[in-house]
Amino acid sequence: MKHFKHRLIYLIKGFLILIRPGVYLGFLSNIVLFKANLLRMTKWTAAQKKDGILNDFPSLIRNYDKRIELYDYILKRENLEHVKIDYLEFGVAAGGSFRYWNNANKHPESRFYGFDTFEGLPEDWGAFKKGDMSYNFPVVEGTRHEFVKGLFQETMNGFLQSHDIKSSSKRIIHLDADLFSSTLFVLTSLANFMKEGDIVLFDEFNVPNHEFMAFKCFTDSYYIKFELIGAVNNYYQVAFKIVK
Ligand SMILES: C[S@@+](CC[C@H](N)C(=O)[O-])C[C@H]1O[C@@H](n2cnc3c(N)ncnc32)[C@H](O)[C@@H]1O
Repeated sequence: MKHFKHRLIYLIKGFLILIRPGVYLGFLSNIVLFKANLLRMTKWTAAQKKDGILNDFPSLIRNYDKRIELYDYILKRENLEHVKIDYLEFGVAAGGSFRYWNNANKHPESRFYGFDTFEGLPEDWGAFKKGDMSYNFPVVEGTRHEFVKGLFQETMNGFLQSHDIKSSSKRIIHLDADLFSSTLFVLTSLANFMKEGDIVLFDEFNVPNHEFMAFKCFTDSYYIKFELIGAVNNYYQVAFKIVK
């Protein structure tokens, strides 16, 4: 019986490959993927704790300024104001969040790295088109920061070879690149450098086919545990801490 079932599945698969439904129905794949990721995401959100951390779920209105509330909360909760940190932000654009962290952390030896094409998104993202969000290097106070211009996929290896981020005691990794491809690339590139206690922020986490899917693919494939320590705007902006 088992043998027969396997043969049948093999034949059906072969038939599907033969008639190539993807050629005619491929336009449906993103919708199907969206539904699957939405199910996965709501299962994930249902399992998250709300007591004892900042978590505004359910909130009726999205207020983008609430991300500052989240940053203030994380800064205080994790005592990040006066410790030496390496801050790595992926997706800088006009520098809103980059400036926040540069101003909020006061340690003279902290370092702030901002990665971006500075020529806009490399792919379409929802209503945004490739090339949208193009800005020059933002004006940032002090001399602790450095911008890395170009696609993450082209600059990351060189950066990791020329900068010692492995030995730093505390890292904040801020993922604000919107796209699935960019977010997954950064997470996988930094996987070997992630340490217990590192903070990982996402800026558009609850978008099913982008940051959430990148997070899901990453956490399903690497033995690294993320504990939610804050969330605003129904998990649009979230903060995690890496735990053992
Ligand atoms: C939403 S904006 C960042 C917003 C910014 N953090 C703020 O607080 O205003 C997203 C940025 O990610 C950048 N980006 C996305 N994918 C990228 C990639 N693969 N390489 C380099 N930059 C990328 C885009 O150029 C864009 O400027």
